[in-house]
Parts: sequence; C-alpha cells; structure tokens
Amino acid sequence: LRRTSPIRYDEDRACWDVFSYEDARNVLLNHRVFSSRRGMDVRGDSMLVMDQPKHTQMRALVNKAFTPKSIEDLAPRIANIVDDLLDQVADGTEMNVVHDLAYPLPVIVIAELLGVPSEDRALFKKWSDILVKAPENNTDEAFAQVVAERGIARTTLNDYFRDILKQRRANPQDDLISALLQAQIDGQKLTEQELLGFCLLLLVAGNETTTNLIANAVRYLTEDMAVQERWRNTPTLTNTAIEEVLRYYPPIVAIGRIASEDTEIRGQRIAAGSQVVSWVAAANRDEAQFPDADRFVPDRTPNRHLGFGLGIHFCLGAPLARLEAQIALPKILERLGTLTFDEGTPLVPIQSTFVFGVKEYPI
Ligand code: HEM
Repeated sequence: LRRTSPIRYDEDRACWDVFSYEDARNVLLNHRVFSSRRGMDVRGDSMLVMDQPKHTQMRALVNKAFTPKSIEDLAPRIANIVDDLLDQVADGTEMNVVHDLAYPLPVIVIAELLGVPSEDRALFKKWSDILVKAPENNTDEAFAQVVAERGIARTTLNDYFRDILKQRRANPQDDLISALLQAQIDGQKLTEQELLGFCLLLLVAGNETTTNLIANAVRYLTEDMAVQERWRNTPTLTNTAIEEVLRYYPPIVAIGRIASEDTEIRGQRIAAGSQVVSWVAAANRDEAQFPDADRFVPDRTPNRHLGFGLGIHFCLGAPLARLEAQIALPKILERLGTLTFDEGTPLVPIQSTFVFGVKEYPI
C-alpha cells in the first residue's frame, strides 16, 4: 500500500489512510489541520483527544511527573518488581512472557505512581482490555456489543477512581492523584470529569502499550537467534535495540485524526470533518526514511520511528515505557538463558484496530 497507494480512501471505514513516513509524520506534526478531537472513545475525555490550548494546559500538569529525570528515580523500584516477577516464574525454564512479566510490570508501576492499590490489577486488566477491544466482526450487532461493553467498563473504572479521589481529597498522599487534586489551570481546579479522564488515560495508555513493547521484543528475540545472542553479550545494545522494536514491531500501529478544515495530501482533496489515519507500522518500514527497513538492526542510528507518535501529542509516558523495557529485557536475557518459542504454539493477536501484540507468549 505504501508503494502503490500511499494515500487512499477506505469506503468501508469512511476514512483516509496515509502510509508513507513523510505523510504520516506531516499529519501528526500538523495538529492545527489534523485535530485530535475524535470524540469520546476508549481514552475518555482526556488530553489525548484535546487540541490546543486546552491540551497544552492539561499536559503541563503532568509533564513534571514524566520527565526522564523524575522517571529515572523509579529505576531501582522497577528493577525490584522485575526481579520479583522473574523469581515467581515456576522453575526458571518456562514462562509466559505476557502473563508473567509484560502485563504485571507496567500495571504495578502505574498503579504505584497514581497511588492506587496494585492488588486491583486483575480488575484493571479486565477493564482496560475491554476499552481497547475491537468488534468481533463487521456487523452492527458486534459493534453495538463493543459499545455496550466499553460503556460498562468506563462506568466501572470511573466509579472506582471516584472512590479513590474521595479518599485522597480527605487524606492526601505523595502520589500523582493527590497532586492532580491540587493542580489548577487559570486558578481553577480540575473538574471531576477531567480528573477521571486523567486517571483512565494514564491507566489504559500506559498498560497495554508497554506490555506489548516487552512482549514484542521477546517475540523478535525468539525469531532471530543471532540478534538474541548479540544483545545478550552486548548489554550496551539495549537502548538502540528497544527503539528498533518500537520501529519494527510497534505496539501502536495507527494514530487517528480528524481534518479540521479542507486540506490536501499528495493532491488528494480531504474535506473538513474527514477521518485520517497515520499508519505508524507502514511509515516505520519506509525505505525512504530507514535504509534496509525490513531488517531488524539492533544498533540502528538514527532511528526516528513513529512508535510514540510525534508533535504535541508525542507519548507522555515514553521515558517510563523505555525505562521499563530497558530494565526488563536485559534481565530476561540474563536470567532465562537462551529464549525459544515453540513454533507449534498458535499466536493469538490482540483484537484491536490500533494495538499490535499477542495475547500470550510462552517461551
Ligand atoms: C500518547 C504510544 C506508553 C501515556 C501516545 C501516543 C502514542 C503512544 C503513539 C500518541 C497518540 C496520538 O498522537 O494521538 C505508546 C507506546 C507506549 C506508551 C508505544 C509503550 C511502549 C505510555 C505510558 C504512559 C503513556 C507508560 C503513561 C504512564 C500517554 C499519554 C499520551 C500518550 C498520556 C497522550 C499525550 C498527549 O495527548 O499529549 N502514546 N505509549 N504512554 N501516551 Fe503513550
């Protein structure tokens, strides 16, 4: 598609798709024309679906908590959690990467950062899965079912967080929720709706995605024993290799926008109000940007992949996701020895239109 129809209109989805690196990048950078106001969806009423100036104000409230410097302080705790999780792997010869490590790690970390009990993580898992799930098929019934399920999940999560907000209001702690309760924009505190939007966004945005980064990394390592050996013997490869996973097997493959005015891409007229999807997965394999794009190059530099998006909505949690992966992957490589995947095991993809990953990955 990138080569033959770099931009196309898909009638079924009533949506424009762009596949080249250049176009995908331009759509993301041009936030004035390509708005993020795609309405209330899985991400709730949060900065992810806001435009300027509100977006800038909301983001400023949490930026401080997510700078590489503040995140770096979490390294010892993250290392502890990874070690604990690996200690619990039955006999150290078999593990299900998703279930045993890639899922629990980011949930525990974000729960601690927000200040909610990490014991509730089984519930988070259930709810956040429902929020990103796509319909089983293209029928109206399947669509209606997903909408209904998401409604229930959102209500349940909102009730849950409303309760935590109440507790923190009465009894502030040293956590992100207590900080957000104090935060002000132009002298105004956040509304309950905005606070809940933050909680849901941080919980959902940071979970599924980081899980898939770690699981996709391990998946690639079992597909390429040469890279696995090289990475294990060269710990300094870790940072560039993780960026290469974000390029090659990106956890988020597509980012949606809405044209806020009539515009044009490659001579195609795009009417105001149209949906436009920036295909990260295709852009990340564009030869015009990445030499040898279909090859995994663990020390690729530069590597300007779009795995975390670009522009004003560039992933807030990127420093956290990177740190978790940078701590977890070397420990897996070191503690488990040679990693192999049984080819006979079926790979079950996560059912989603924008998340790329597998449900389980036994190694
Ligand atoms: C935004 C990917 C981890 C919080 C984004 C966007 C992408 C992305 C592609 C841009 C969406 C857009 O432009 O519409 C990822 C990936 C992750 C990851 C691949 C893991 C590997 C995290 C974590 C957190 C987080 C750990 C928080 C704890 C957010 C937030 C936004 C965002 C709040 C919205 C930022 C804004 O609208 O300004 N992420 N993310 N993400 N991400 Fe992440």
